[in-house]
Amino acid sequence: MIALPRFQSRVVPVIALHDATQAVRLAHALLDGGIDVMEITLRTPQALQAIEAVARDVPQMVVAAGTVTRAAEVASVCAAGARLALSPGLTQTLVRAACDAGLPFIPGVMTPGEVMAAREQGFGLLKLFPAAQAGGLAMLQALAGPLPEIRFCPTGGIHPDNLGSYLAQRNVAFVGGSWLTPPDMLAKRDWAGITALARAASALSGPATDSPAT
Ligand code: 3PG
Repeated sequence: MIALPRFQSRVVPVIALHDATQAVRLAHALLDGGIDVMEITLRTPQALQAIEAVARDVPQMVVAAGTVTRAAEVASVCAAGARLALSPGLTQTLVRAACDAGLPFIPGVMTPGEVMAAREQGFGLLKLFPAAQAGGLAMLQALAGPLPEIRFCPTGGIHPDNLGSYLAQRNVAFVGGSWLTPPDMLAKRDWAGITALARAASALSGPATDSPAT
């Protein structure tokens, strides 16, 4: 699979941005808190514009497109400048589109069979989604037995109280979560508050000990 872009943070903010004009300021707020990657999800009409703004104006931020669920979306996120795409799942057409576009891609899985199917297609880093519903830490520990070489980005149900436990799991490369960009803080443009949340998460997680690339 195509190597991931390099980033240091082991926490990936999962963002639903309703106002693309906030994207650049938000990127800087996260960088100020030590987070150099952000996943802007295709859950709002402004998402592509937001990705484009960060890709253009904040090159030190690795901007990822999240909630990529259709092959046709791959061309759009590439055109916007996304350096990485994440999906809650995995389909053949999506994998083919990402490969054809040369776009680094992290597909989502929830079961051992899905992990094995993804591995057959060359993926070694997978998004465990929804992590809490999939079994959380216990599921990650169980997967490490038969599938020890696979690394995960658990997303869904991660928060400051369980972040350390997830990151300490040996098959966890990094985690994703929405807690770093709460809707009320975005609405109030509380950049200092978001930087504080990012800084707290960075302090808990520390730098990646090795490249998150597959
Ligand atoms: C989502 O589905 O929005 C992401 O997985 C983030 O989940 P979270 O809100 O539990 O962090």
